[in-house]
Amino acid sequence: MKEIVVNASKQYSVTIGSGVLSQVVKITAAVTNARRICIVSDSNVWPIYGNAVKTGLASAGYSVCYYVFSAGENSKNSTTYLDLLSFLSENELTRADCIVALGGGVVGDLAGFAAATYLRGIPYIQVPTTLLAMVDSSVGGKTAINLPVGKNLCGAFYQPSAVLCDTNTLSTLPKEVFRDGCAEVIKYAVLFDPELFALLEKDGLAFDRESVITRCVQHKRDVVAQDEFDRGRRMLLNLGHTIGHAIETYSNFAVSHGCAVAIGMAVTARAVKCTDCQRMVALIKQFGFPTTTDIPSDALYCAMLADKKRSSSSINLIIPKAIGHCTIMPTPVDELKTFIEEGM
Ligand code: GLY
Repeated sequence: MKEIVVNASKQYSVTIGSGVLSQVVKITAAVTNARRICIVSDSNVWPIYGNAVKTGLASAGYSVCYYVFSAGENSKNSTTYLDLLSFLSENELTRADCIVALGGGVVGDLAGFAAATYLRGIPYIQVPTTLLAMVDSSVGGKTAINLPVGKNLCGAFYQPSAVLCDTNTLSTLPKEVFRDGCAEVIKYAVLFDPELFALLEKDGLAFDRESVITRCVQHKRDVVAQDEFDRGRRMLLNLGHTIGHAIETYSNFAVSHGCAVAIGMAVTARAVKCTDCQRMVALIKQFGFPTTTDIPSDALYCAMLADKKRSSSSINLIIPKAIGHCTIMPTPVDELKTFIEEGM
């Protein structure tokens, strides 16, 4: 088991290992004064892990309620969000009480945003059950819902009180959902870690889960400690995401986040003729991801303009110069279409 301490506006631990879910009671008691807990989960995760978490917390004396919504990115919207806030209020959660976000990135983002805004903020604990959420979205306090025009356009920076990554939960994931998280692992390797990149080339999907998750979380911890509010270095974590979000939005989330980010990384590497472009594209393919899309570049361009990372007349693109060396490049919006076309 590994424990990583994140130092942001709030200090908290990320606990990673097999069986960590059984520590939810101990950790909740250690980091909150809650009496009531609302577990937020989705229709995929709740039937597998919901009962164990609920029973554990209830047996320890907590008053437990649970809010389960239909799984999928399309639920991460204002309707589900307002419904969740009403549910918290009907169940009389106070500012001292706590939300436990049990599930993948959609659950963590939605539950985190509800925690950030209900009564102007109550504590929450992230219990990610997907690889994507363990290595990226559960750590660092980005919470959000989608607007019709684009992904994550309404949200808040709001750090959790603890993060529990039980690697056993990865064993019940459908193969494509596990693989989706690998796109974020590849992202961390390209951004910061040539050694991790080589390890992924060698081990493929059979990589050691606890150690690779730990490594990615250590990178994220370092970035968040330097730039919690995404004004500088943290923007690097958007490698592949600006094009990726446009693909997700255009496809109405028929293309998964991992596939979209993988395509985004490949398109960017080709567009800038990155030194390690061939290795990057080969690794993305090795993990079974597509490296291009049929979506017309015009349509991607329009979807990118709605992206929240746009700043006036330019968009900050993350450019891989080489594996382990990426930079932030403000790109005028009128050059974006050519950029996409060169990378396809
Ligand atoms: N997922 C990117 C970030 O947390 O900044």
